[in-house]
Amino acid sequence: MKTLLLSATHPDTAKTAAQIIKAGGLVALPTETVYGLGADGLNPDAVAKIFEAKGRPQDNPLILHVTGAEQIELFCHDIPQAAYDLAEAFWPGPLTMVLPARSIVPKCTTAGLPTVAIRCPDSQVTREIIREAGVPIAAPSANISGKPSTTTAAHVLHDHDGKIEAIVDGGPCRVGVESTIVDLTEERPRLLRPGGITPEQLIGILGDLVIDKAVTAQIDKDAVVKAPGMKYRHYAPQCQVLIVSGSRQKAADYIHAHFAPGDRVLCFAEELPLYADCNPLSYGKESDVATLSAGLFSALRELDDPSVQRVYARCPVGGGVAYAVQNRLKKAAAFHIIDAEESK
Ligand code: TXA
Ligand code: MG
Repeated sequence: MKTLLLSATHPDTAKTAAQIIKAGGLVALPTETVYGLGADGLNPDAVAKIFEAKGRPQDNPLILHVTGAEQIELFCHDIPQAAYDLAEAFWPGPLTMVLPARSIVPKCTTAGLPTVAIRCPDSQVTREIIREAGVPIAAPSANISGKPSTTTAAHVLHDHDGKIEAIVDGGPCRVGVESTIVDLTEERPRLLRPGGITPEQLIGILGDLVIDKAVTAQIDKDAVVKAPGMKYRHYAPQCQVLIVSGSRQKAADYIHAHFAPGDRVLCFAEELPLYADCNPLSYGKESDVATLSAGLFSALRELDDPSVQRVYARCPVGGGVAYAVQNRLKKAAAFHIIDAEESK
């Protein structure tokens, strides 16, 4: 099949993309977080194609993308006031809520769970496509399963050229890491995945937040977890990734002492001069964490090359969006972290 490349700014794009979705096809869509691989979320045959194209495990449910808070009750029931408060504060935007699912949502979309994840993306063309299609769009990140997420149309083309009907090119994604996921189906709200909406922002609205253990630690692949996607090896280049924490100088000392031919250093722009002889790649500025989240997946994809033996990575500290960057990088590193202050 020939994969159509549609520009987000072309006046016919929303109609063309919506027609493909309605006919049961796949369209990669831009969002402010990452590109999604979209299909009619109410059509089991269309949803099955997403799993096939990505090579995604069947037990990993999809997020339903909607036009706004007014659509929550179409697909969810027993909706707490907190869901509307969060939607009011952060939609359209990088926040996904897990709520009890209505039976109209097919089992393959929810992977058989009684709940559904729902979000309203901050991309005008994508919301227009959802409106025009007249159905919620199920869309995981468009990467092949296990690989770093797709933050440009070129990334999507690389993974799916000839396998999907179309890609809507909306330019590079602003946030660059996937949406924050909060589960509202229990007594206390629970953070399942950190993202562009920070824990601090959620607590500002909810007054309370439990951090799920899948956010902070490696989860066994047979474990029963709230967000099934969190237990799989994720976001990772082919080679081993090792996070080196500690001060700038101590980390550089450690990396220089261990660096071997074929290795790469993934660092902050401010650190490039320190690694001039270590084939460094910067993913953004430590002093501007938004550039780190926006640049992380492009950098990880560049490092996903058989010629790279090992990646030494520098990771930002602190809360806010840095918390999401830490989460993705630690998962890419399978939680291998060296403290350069303690190691030689
Ligand atoms: O920013 C995003 O959320 C992007 C864009 C395209 O919207 N989408 C995305 O989808 O990251 P995906 O499939 O790569 O990640 C969805 C995560 C998975 O970890 C999945 O297990 C979890 O959401 N999830 C989906 N439905 C769930 C549910 N009912 N309960 C708990 N977790 C759920
Ligand atoms: Mg994903």
